[in-house]
Amino acid sequence: MKSEVDVVVVGAGVTGLTAATRLVKAGRSVVVLEARDRVGGRLWTDTVDGVRLELGGQWVSPDQSALLETIDELGLKTFSRYREGEGVYVGRDGVRRTFSGASFPVSARTEAEVDRLTAVLDDLAARMDPLNPWDMPGAAELDQVSFAAWLEGQTDDEEARDNIALYIGPAMLTKPAHAFSALSAVLMAASAGSFSNLVDADFILDKRVAGGLQQVPLMLAAALGDRVVTGSPVTSIAHDAEGATVTTATGQWRAKKVIVAVPPTLVSRIAFSPNLPPIQMQARQHTSFGLVIKLHITYATPFWRQAGLSGTAFSPYQVVHEAYDNTNHDETRGTLVGFVSDENADRLLALSDGERRAQILASLSAYYGEQALEPVAYYESQWMAEEWTAGAYATSFDIGGLTRYGATLREPVGPVSFGTSDVAGLGFQHVDGAIRIGRMLADAV
Ligand code: FDA
Repeated sequence: MKSEVDVVVVGAGVTGLTAATRLVKAGRSVVVLEARDRVGGRLWTDTVDGVRLELGGQWVSPDQSALLETIDELGLKTFSRYREGEGVYVGRDGVRRTFSGASFPVSARTEAEVDRLTAVLDDLAARMDPLNPWDMPGAAELDQVSFAAWLEGQTDDEEARDNIALYIGPAMLTKPAHAFSALSAVLMAASAGSFSNLVDADFILDKRVAGGLQQVPLMLAAALGDRVVTGSPVTSIAHDAEGATVTTATGQWRAKKVIVAVPPTLVSRIAFSPNLPPIQMQARQHTSFGLVIKLHITYATPFWRQAGLSGTAFSPYQVVHEAYDNTNHDETRGTLVGFVSDENADRLLALSDGERRAQILASLSAYYGEQALEPVAYYESQWMAEEWTAGAYATSFDIGGLTRYGATLREPVGPVSFGTSDVAGLGFQHVDGAIRIGRMLADAV
């Protein structure tokens, strides 16, 4: 038997739940169909070995006004990341140096080149509307060159290039800088307000939500009640001029409109009839998830604080390219969060669990000393192994794809519309972008 609703939402991530919440407020009947047995998608707060961990997204920055509004509406509280003391940087020469402030301890020449390139990228970002990056003057040229090649054309200082590449490649798109375009790099910067914002860890990794960021989707879903149906992967959508029939293993829903709130790479798992137009199928084949292992490593105490360190660590030359103090606001133990991205992740995922752990802890000891080798708990978030995500943090275009197909990903097909954080402008690839896109999708319906 088919149930009838005004709108079917596919996916109970933040995008889908935001859209559904707005539609219900506007008096529409809605069902949200979610493949997993839980809601939240790429937000997942869970307790592992007695430690509450943010397995997926966690940080909120001051420019993310859509997310901050939602946090406020839900009555959630935020707290600041621990940031007293010095950061650690391991340079191209392999030497470990501590630093205060935003600039890494590099040579005066490298620092000047980093500052100059930062100004160039800030200027490019200021010229871009992140919602329509393909409209920026010079967009086609920037989209046809890899970010790595673009950087080579800008400076012969390798350490400056490696650092600028780190901020956008391993740290954000989680792809090597030769695998995405300079335009995609500018989009990442423009979506955070500027490149300067993106490289300022105190800005971009400003706040966390007490109790975990997954509370946002959990609370949205709780308010929607039995309109949210988990454990129900949508397998097919048959659409016509009047509406669509959406099928899962357990049921069928007829609706006037459907919002498919899943990453573009997962749209192809749904059989559409009639099939999606060829350009829609092409467009999604030019997007892919990045690859990152998120590490959660807990110690008996936050020992780095006693050594005058904030826990913040960076290096383009270390397996763990960045790490931070991620101790919960109510914990006495100390937890570090770290990241192994793109080609380093390829290499480490090919190792046994034990060898991978040994290499990761060795990398942390290069930043924090030998105590880093003795954690009391160790966990790796492996989103690449999750059937209903298959990568992290998000999807992005291959070289040339953004100008060629970017606009297509937000075009509806008949009664079916599409969206996720990965097609947002402001807040691109972030929870803030998911909320913005969720609102846009609901308003369009
Ligand atoms: P999302 O992928 O969350 O939701 C899509 C939902 O659709 C999923 O629940 C999925 O199961 C479901 N689905 C897929 N196919 C389906 C089908 N056929 N039928 C039914 N359901 C289907 N952001 C941030 O702001 N700050 C941060 O610190 C971080 N850090 C971070 C770390 C890690 C490790 C990850 C993986 C991600 C982040 N992010 C982040 C990114 C952030 O988590 C992400 O941008 C949003 O949560 C995406 O929300 P969406 O709803 O758009 O997609």
